[in-house]
Amino acid sequence: MAKGKHTAGFFCGSCGYESPKWLGQCPICKEWNTFAEAPASRAAVSGGAKGAETGFHGKPVMLSEVTAKEEDRILTGIGELDRVLGGGIVQGSLTLVGGDPGIGKSTLLLQMCRLLALAGHKILYISGEESLKQIKMRAERIGPFNDRLSLYCETNLEMIEETIRQFAPEIVIIDSIQTMFSENIAATAGSVSQVKESTGILLRLAKGMGISVFIVGHVTKEGTVAGPRVLEHMVDTVLYFEGERHASYRILRGVKNRFGSTNEIGVFEMKENGLAEVANPSEYMLSGRPEDACGCVAACSMEGTRPLMIEVQALVCHSSFGVPRRQAAGTDLNRVNLLMAVLEKRLGLQMSGCDAYVNIAGGMKIQEPAVDLGIAMAVVSSFKNRAIDEKLVAFGEMGLSGEVRGVSMAQKRVQEAKKLGFTTCVLPKVNADALKEIEGIRIVGVSGVQDAIDMI
Ligand code: TYD
Ligand code: MG
Repeated sequence: MAKGKHTAGFFCGSCGYESPKWLGQCPICKEWNTFAEAPASRAAVSGGAKGAETGFHGKPVMLSEVTAKEEDRILTGIGELDRVLGGGIVQGSLTLVGGDPGIGKSTLLLQMCRLLALAGHKILYISGEESLKQIKMRAERIGPFNDRLSLYCETNLEMIEETIRQFAPEIVIIDSIQTMFSENIAATAGSVSQVKESTGILLRLAKGMGISVFIVGHVTKEGTVAGPRVLEHMVDTVLYFEGERHASYRILRGVKNRFGSTNEIGVFEMKENGLAEVANPSEYMLSGRPEDACGCVAACSMEGTRPLMIEVQALVCHSSFGVPRRQAAGTDLNRVNLLMAVLEKRLGLQMSGCDAYVNIAGGMKIQEPAVDLGIAMAVVSSFKNRAIDEKLVAFGEMGLSGEVRGVSMAQKRVQEAKKLGFTTCVLPKVNADALKEIEGIRIVGVSGVQDAIDMI
């Protein structure tokens, strides 16, 4: 879309959708009243940037002529963070760390800065939210710092750019992008155009000077303040920090990564002295399991390259209303409804008059279809009031005709189950047949959901 400098565009504050005219409802994210007028972005990445600085050369180059060495990576010293980043920080990369306010973004990044500074890297932590004193107070809870870390409280990006050019740090933290503003744009800090312009400036700095920049972005549902979603396409890596407010653990999830696989997660626990890594999240998720309870079964989901054991809980009880209630926490409600319909049709279980509640214990959100079998078994266990052996773990995808379909990385899942002391593993038959012998765990391959239900 060709636009002059003064042409106004409209942006959805929730998802960043750009439209030439104002809309009441965003056609993409379906949020209402989120459109705000803003000067159209000046395409900071493609058009506005100077060629030499960004590595864009303005003429086609043969692939064989491009010399690319393995990216220089800096290890942060926080294993969980390094894994989500794809093996450390890439030089000259732009990373967005999003999350709800108060979830621990600043804490995580300050901890990272501390370790990097101790390893001798030159770091500049720029805060537009907290005063030097506040940062100092937080730092004191985390541990001793050395002199390689400098703090700078500023929100004007022209000043920040100037400072970064003079100071020449290796790593820069911007906390948060919503507080930053550029004089080029006549909009308030936190608006979509400011956030985009600011990120454009930082992008040029990062690529031009080879500085790794971390940008903190608060996720907000409100229309007036731009959420980090509008930046996702501009940055190299997008990490979301999530967790329940009442639970102490936090999950760092890679949503986009130009330098590694996404879907990796890192698990942390918020303590008095900052965030601590949770080295074995499966153990953490399974802690406090009830014994001999109906409607509970362990399942295994893959998070990136790592298997994660979770507990699926179901409660199926007679409904006292005309329309039964169905609820799902931590998994997709539609999926639960579908699985229950399959159970009803294929196994003849009369559950249509029953309320059903399905919960993934621990507050994890699981999307993988491999938990289907676990959900189905938990539902039937609760419906029939029969407990499942607590040393049994189940995984597999369920099809509409009640067949159990194969899933990826079965070997890894079984190994994890074995490691955590499970003695029986129910899994798709195709996976079981291809599995290498593992001592100490009984493998039960099932081709239909009936076979799995027979185990209860
Ligand atoms: P913070 O990093 O300020 O969140 P964000 O930058 O994402 O807005 O996290 C603040 C929360 O973390 C606050 O509620 C207090 C808690 N916290 C601890 O529990 N222990 C600690 O050592 C620190 C520094 C914070
Ligand atoms: Mg903060």
